[in-house]
Order: sequence, then structure tokens, then C-alpha cells
Amino acid sequence: MFDETTYTDRRNKLKEEMVSGLVLLPGNNESPMNYPSNTYHFRQDSSFLYFFGIDKPGLAGIIDVDSGEEILFGDDIDLNALIWMGPQPTVKMLGKAAGVKETRSFSELEKVVKNAIEKGRAIHFLPPYRAENSILLEQITGIPHNMVSEKVSTELIKTVVKLRSVKEPGEIIEIEKAVNVAFEMHTTAMRMAMPGTYEREIAGCIEGISLSHGSPVSFPVILTINGQTLHNHYHGNLLREGRMMVTDAGHETSMCYASDITRSVPVGGKFSQRQKEIYEIVLSALEKATSLTRSGIPNRDIHLEAAAVIAAGLKDLGLMKGDVREAVQQGAHAMFFPHGLGHMMGLDVHDMEGLGEDYVGYDEEIKRAEVFGLKGLRLGRRLREGFVLTIEPGLYFIPALIDKWKEEGKFSSFINYDKVESYKDFGGIRIEDDVVVTEEGCRVLGKGIPKKISEIEEFMRR
Ligand code: GLY
Ligand code: MN
Repeated sequence: MFDETTYTDRRNKLKEEMVSGLVLLPGNNESPMNYPSNTYHFRQDSSFLYFFGIDKPGLAGIIDVDSGEEILFGDDIDLNALIWMGPQPTVKMLGKAAGVKETRSFSELEKVVKNAIEKGRAIHFLPPYRAENSILLEQITGIPHNMVSEKVSTELIKTVVKLRSVKEPGEIIEIEKAVNVAFEMHTTAMRMAMPGTYEREIAGCIEGISLSHGSPVSFPVILTINGQTLHNHYHGNLLREGRMMVTDAGHETSMCYASDITRSVPVGGKFSQRQKEIYEIVLSALEKATSLTRSGIPNRDIHLEAAAVIAAGLKDLGLMKGDVREAVQQGAHAMFFPHGLGHMMGLDVHDMEGLGEDYVGYDEEIKRAEVFGLKGLRLGRRLREGFVLTIEPGLYFIPALIDKWKEEGKFSSFINYDKVESYKDFGGIRIEDDVVVTEEGCRVLGKGIPKKISEIEEFMRR
């Protein structure tokens, strides 16, 4: 946890931003895998962590915007639980660490909320994403669980997004720690990317590296020789020469701050000419995007500049044709680059995505596009100093998508389908860094993980 003033200040800012009412922030509970006491790794709710910092199940927080009162609800464990779990801090101690003076038993929560409702006061809550919390909200507010999503507080969502989007110096230190663990994970994966090794051996090893630093990966590891499937979690293939291995993986620190890094390397450590050519295009797109990233620029514009680099590179190889800007404007490049350039990152790897992607990545000025490709961009709005985001261009040959567009004759004035046919066995390449936006530009976080072709070949040479 940060020190208590961090959480007190954040709650004070929340109170200043909100007009009136009660802010209700339920924490998460243990989640059973296959019977009640056999649970998944406990993961606290990120907004609860942001305002209270306590990484324990069975808690909820109330912040009264009008009176300024703050209450932490939870129950101390009994002797039986202590025998199995060992001594645990009391709710009072947890509250003190978060700067909250008043604590009450969990059953009091319902009374406090119902009392406020009876007085006609607004109860502000965020979109629940776990069934237990939808049921809790039904129990304490009387709103049927299948309707709570419609009753979430837009005012609270917007305020939380505003506060969480700009990272404090202490948060950037945490994120950078997570990137430095990712350095170890990715450099290990590179060393292991040799023919005859199974993907799962490498995936298991890098997940273990994350755990050896005290906490799990920030999202399920993507590690595959079939990088044309963007989120490929199948790890059963045997590595063979001629394929690129895409590793998209990150660590979550003990305070739950994420990293999200992608590297693509040739199995065996030596790029073929064809792999080099495609890789250089993606790397140029990453470099271009990184050079443009600074406070005040819409991330949508950076995405389109990266897309133009990709389209120009593909044109040089004869895979695309025609006017590059026009091709990007119409979305022809999206057959090769169907996803967005990046997303916010912090306490969630896709930061605050559960609050609603458009609240996080778009605003009154910049709305999400409808066109395939650009539609997938999670962060389009103007960047601000202190934002932490990923920059992750990619280039993929997705046989099913190629076949469909070819059959439809889609963008045939921009795509050279005959040439693309010969790349259907290529796979995909993605390169991803994590950056913090500064006044003048951006800073790539963490120790440099080999990225240039010469660096990767040198690193993988045995
Ligand atoms: N690291 C996976 C993603 O950003 O979607
Ligand atoms: Mn990412």
C-alpha cells in the first residue's frame, strides 16, 4: 500500500469533483474455482484499491460526498478462520492504513445505504462485473441485479476515470517495476525460443518468473507461433524454424499495477529476409508512434500515422498499392492491422475498461469511429501528461480475413491479393512498449528489452 495520505487525498479529490450523494465502492470477494473453498487467486477491485488500497476480500467503502464521512465495512475473522488463515489485521487496522477512521461490520452497509435511499439521496456505484457484487447491489439498493448496470452513476464513472487516468509519481514507479519484471519474462522467452521447444514450456516459465516476484501475470500469457490470432492463449505447438514467436505478457506488482509488453522473435534467433521486411515495418510504426506521443495530441491521430507507416511499408513490398493516405482513410490497411494502437494501463492492464471503454478512451471532442480497424482503438482522445499507455502496432496475415475480403473484392484497388496469398503462412508480428506521457513527449518505461533486429539476433545467439 501507499501511505494513508495517498488514499485520503484521492478520496478528498473524489468528494471535490462529485456534486452530492453517497459513493459506494464494494471490494471483491474470493471466487471459487470448483468448490467453495478452492478459490482463484484473489484480485481486489481496482477502483476500491485506488481509493482504499486494501487488498483483502469482504470489504466495502462508503464516501459521503455531502458530509465528508468515510466508512469501511468488513468483519474481523473468528478463531476458526484464524486457525486456517493465520492472524489477520482487524478491519480497524486496515481502515487506519487507508486513513479511514470509521469502520463497521459488513451487515451495517445495508442499513446505511437503505437509510440514504429513504432520505432520497443518490447512491453512486460503478458498473459491477462480478455476479456477487450485482447481487450485493440488489440486496442493499433494492435494484434488481439484472438492472443494476442500467443504474450505474455516470457522474462517478467520469470522476473515477478523470482521477485514475493521470498517474501519480508513485504509481509510475510501480508500473515501471512491473515493466522490469516483464523484461525478465521476455528476455527469458527469447532465449528459450528455439526449435524443438513447446510453447507451453516457455509460457509456463515466464509465468513462473512473474510469480517469483510475488504476484501473478497481469493477464493470461499470449505466447504463440500463430501470432495472426491476436489473443492466442493456446500453448501446445512445437516451435519450428520459419515461424515468428509472438509473446504478449506482463506482470502485476503486489500493489496490482500492470505491465503489458509484446516482443516477436524468429524461432531459432535468425530472421529470414521476409521476416525482416515485415518486422521492420512494425518497428518503424512503433518508432513513429513513440516519436509523436506527447501531451495534447489525439491518440487517434497517432494510430492513423502508425497505420500509414504500415500501409507505406506494405506498398513498398507490393502487398498494397495506390495512395497510402487514401488507403488508411478508407481502412484498407486494417486487413493487416485490425486492432488499435494501444490502451491506457495502470491498476488494470486495460485500465478502467470495466467502467466503459468510451468513457476512458473517448470524450466530447473525439468519438469512436465505426470503421473496421479504427473502431478497435481503445484510446482515441487527446493525451495528457501523466497518462500511461501501451503503443502496440502489429502486422498480421489472417487467412480467414484475407479470403473473405478477397472474395468480396474489398479494397481491391489498395490490396494486391495475389501477392498477399503467398504470405498466408507468415503468421503475425506485434511489438509493444509501455510509455508515460510527458509535457514534451513520452518516456518508454523500464529497461530496454531487445527490439531492433540486430539486438534480437545478438541476444538470441548462443
Ligand atoms: N496485452 C493484450 C492486449 O493489450 O489486449
Ligand atoms: Mn496491450
